[in-house]
Amino acid sequence: MSWFGNGKKKEAGAALPSRLHHTAYVTNDMEATRKFYEDVIGLPLMATFCEKDELFGAERTYMHTFFELGDGSALAFFQFADPADQAQFGPQMPFTPFHHVALNVDKDAQAVIEARIKAAGYTEPGHFVLEHGYCRSVYVTDPNGMIVEFCCDDEAAARDAPARRAKAHAELKRWLAGDHTVNNTYRHADRAA
Ligand SMILES: [Fe+2]
Repeated sequence: MSWFGNGKKKEAGAALPSRLHHTAYVTNDMEATRKFYEDVIGLPLMATFCEKDELFGAERTYMHTFFELGDGSALAFFQFADPADQAQFGPQMPFTPFHHVALNVDKDAQAVIEARIKAAGYTEPGHFVLEHGYCRSVYVTDPNGMIVEFCCDDEAAARDAPARRAKAHAELKRWLAGDHTVNNTYRHADRAA
């Protein structure tokens, strides 16, 4: 059960996007990317657009692929035919595990994906697991260096979602003001205020 979205209130005049449509990233190796997302993880290739467009001051020849998630959204990738375009627009993501894409999974889906990742031979640091308290996350690095997180929410975290939402702005202000007291009661039960 996901606690994201629980208790959300719509402000007057607000129009919340209904879901993620797609993320986008440039790959240097579309076939390695396809193998990873389709053959290892199990996300179907739902579209390959082959394009030639006047974009950003020049004609660009490129392909644009979409790997499908359960709600119809997708992870998308570009690859350019011209090495100069590839160099101009290509991957420049610095290595940090704090940049990643996180996908919601239930327990069963997480177990299946974790088994597929292991069966494909991924080990640390390319694959690791973190217990965040409010969720358990399986991480794997794709062939482009992009970290993908498969996140399974803890049901206990759903109970406190309204209280967490009510405090969210105050907690942000408190932390920025220098009070770094931890508040993840699921992981820091001994230390949290
Ligand atoms: Fe995350």
